[in-house]
Amino acid sequence: MSVIPPTGKGKITVPDLLQRKSSVAGFASNPKKITCLTAYDYPTARLLDEAGVDVLLVGDSLGMVVLGYESTLPVSIEEMLHHTRAVRRGTRRALVVADMPYGSYHSDTAESLRNAVRFVKEASAEAVKVEGGERRLELIARLTEAEIPVMGHIGLTPQSINALGGYRVQGKTVDAAELLLRDARAVEAAGAFAVVLEAVPRELAAQITRELRIPTIGIGAGPECDGQVLVIHDLLGLTFGKTPKFARQYANIGQIISKAAREYCEDVRGGTFPSDAESYHGAEMAMEQKEAPVNTDGDW
Ligand code: KIV
Repeated sequence: MSVIPPTGKGKITVPDLLQRKSSVAGFASNPKKITCLTAYDYPTARLLDEAGVDVLLVGDSLGMVVLGYESTLPVSIEEMLHHTRAVRRGTRRALVVADMPYGSYHSDTAESLRNAVRFVKEASAEAVKVEGGERRLELIARLTEAEIPVMGHIGLTPQSINALGGYRVQGKTVDAAELLLRDARAVEAAGAFAVVLEAVPRELAAQITRELRIPTIGIGAGPECDGQVLVIHDLLGLTFGKTPKFARQYANIGQIISKAAREYCEDVRGGTFPSDAESYHGAEMAMEQKEAPVNTDGDW
């Protein structure tokens, strides 16, 4: 290679995240913990990136929190590519991971690989995420072999909502916990660089975290995981209806938006917006002049 492409100072890469795997995995407190949030658009990506979030996940949760679908199942590749491009444009430091939507990796491996390649080539994703454990062994290995870093996702996998029968905590019985452990080992053996554990008992997530050499990123999986992820709309108070108990709300942006919109309507209707200072002025016109020049001062 004759030209070294600029990577921003402190750019997070897949090897960096692997190095963050704690040598004392399974403990709640650790300064190397990986922070991950979902992002779906340019301004949010910029703000989260500048705030120091390590991984921006363009989750297919966008179907529910941004596009208003009832589940993640209808989300298309085109929708995911569109939002991944926007996030990528707003990101300098964080690692951008794109979720492969339902149906894009469920038929043959060759087609799944072609779809994953689109995320890298057309949207500059740095990694993709696929849901499922043992049954994704071959796929994860193939994508990894094709130089596409893969983040696994086990436990509650929302794309399996019809098979699971609802959004429920997974791995609660001894047998179910054993299956989840096998899933975690399979995802690691296939070559994934990290694995999301969603809605899993804390003790089981801690055990998986201790066993694996790759980082675990928890969501509703307790504090012992190597990192945490939340859906940004939950964290900001921008969702409607009930949220799961792990979704700590750090702000109420929904309330701020509603208040601002109500005030704007009041001001427009009451004639106080726009004010004279918020209006442009042209040269003094003779009464008979029909058209005023627009914005003669040239300022916005
Ligand atoms: O789609 C998503 O946002 C996710 C995270 C919740 C892990 O998969």
